[in-house]
Amino acid sequence: MGARSERPAHRGRLPGRLTYIARRAYRYAPVIVDSYDVVYNRMRTDDVAFYTDLAMHARGQVLELGCGTGRILIKSAGAGATITGLDVSALMLDACRRKVAALPPEIAVRITLIEDDMTSFDLGRTFALVTIPFRAFSHLIMVEEQLACLQRVHRHLDVDGELVFDVFQPRVESLIDPHAADEVEDTPESPLPGGGTVRRTARRTAIDQTDQLIQVEFGYYVKDENGNVERLSETFPFRYYYRYELEHLLARAGFKVAALYGWYDKSPLSGTPRDMIFVARKA
Ligand SMILES: C[S@@+](CC[C@H](N)C(=O)[O-])C[C@H]1O[C@@H](n2cnc3c(N)ncnc32)[C@H](O)[C@@H]1O
Repeated sequence: MGARSERPAHRGRLPGRLTYIARRAYRYAPVIVDSYDVVYNRMRTDDVAFYTDLAMHARGQVLELGCGTGRILIKSAGAGATITGLDVSALMLDACRRKVAALPPEIAVRITLIEDDMTSFDLGRTFALVTIPFRAFSHLIMVEEQLACLQRVHRHLDVDGELVFDVFQPRVESLIDPHAADEVEDTPESPLPGGGTVRRTARRTAIDQTDQLIQVEFGYYVKDENGNVERLSETFPFRYYYRYELEHLLARAGFKVAALYGWYDKSPLSGTPRDMIFVARKA
C-alpha cells in the first residue's frame, strides 16, 4: 500500500482479488484458523446475541455471508433459525463443519454451508434475512466488489427482507497514531483445541488514507506440548468506510437504510466511533 503508484494493476476491474486475499489468508496455516475461535470467543461477544436474536426472529430463512467458523451461525441455528452460511475460505468452513457435526441432529439439520464468494454467489432463491457479521464487508477492497456484493444480496432477499451488516468506524486519531505500528498482545496465551497454546499480537503495518485501507498484521505465537514456540503471521488489508459512503453505496444497489446503530445494544451512532451496524431494506 502507501503510494498510489503501488496500487494493484487490476484496480477498477473485478478479478476476484478478495477471493485471493481470503484464500491466501486462511490457507497456509490451519493453526490460524484453529486460533480464530480462541481469539474471538474471548474478544468479541456483543455481536453474537445481536445477530442471533435477529436470526431467531427472522420471518423465514437466513443467509450469513462470510460465516467463517460459525461463531454466530451455530448459535443462530441453536436458537431456532434455519440458516445458510457462505464463505470463500475452505478452511474456515471445515472448522465450521466440525462444529456442526458435534451438534444435536435436530439443530445440525437447519444448517447449510456453501463455499463461495460473496461478490458472485448465485443460490437461486431468496432469504428473509441476509447478514454480513464481524466486518466481513471490510474485506471488500474495491467499490466494484462492494457493489457486486450488495447487488447479489438484493437478488437473494425477499421483497420485505432485511440486510444487516457491520463495519468498523475509523477514529481520526487512530489513523494518525504512530503507536498503531507497535506489536501489541491482543490475546494472552490460551489453549488450542488440538493441544498446545496460542498467543496473538496485532499491529498496523500500513495505512492508505486515500484508498481508505488499513493493513493489519496478526502474529500467532504457537507453543507445542514440548514448549517450542513458532511465530506465524497473517496480514490483511481492511477497507474502512464512512457512514454516508455506505448510505450511497446501499442506494446504488437498490437499498434504503431502515436503521443505523453504533453498537450491538442498538444504541445510536455516537461521537465515539466503534462499529457501524446497518439495517437495510429494498428501496
Ligand atoms: C472476520 S471473519 C467473520 C466470520 C463470522 N461471520 C464471525 O462473525 O465470526 C470474515 C470472514 O469473511 C470471509 N470472507 C472474506 N472475503 C469473502 C468473500 N469474498 N466471500 C465470502 N466470504 C469471505 C473470510 O473467509 C472469513 O471467514
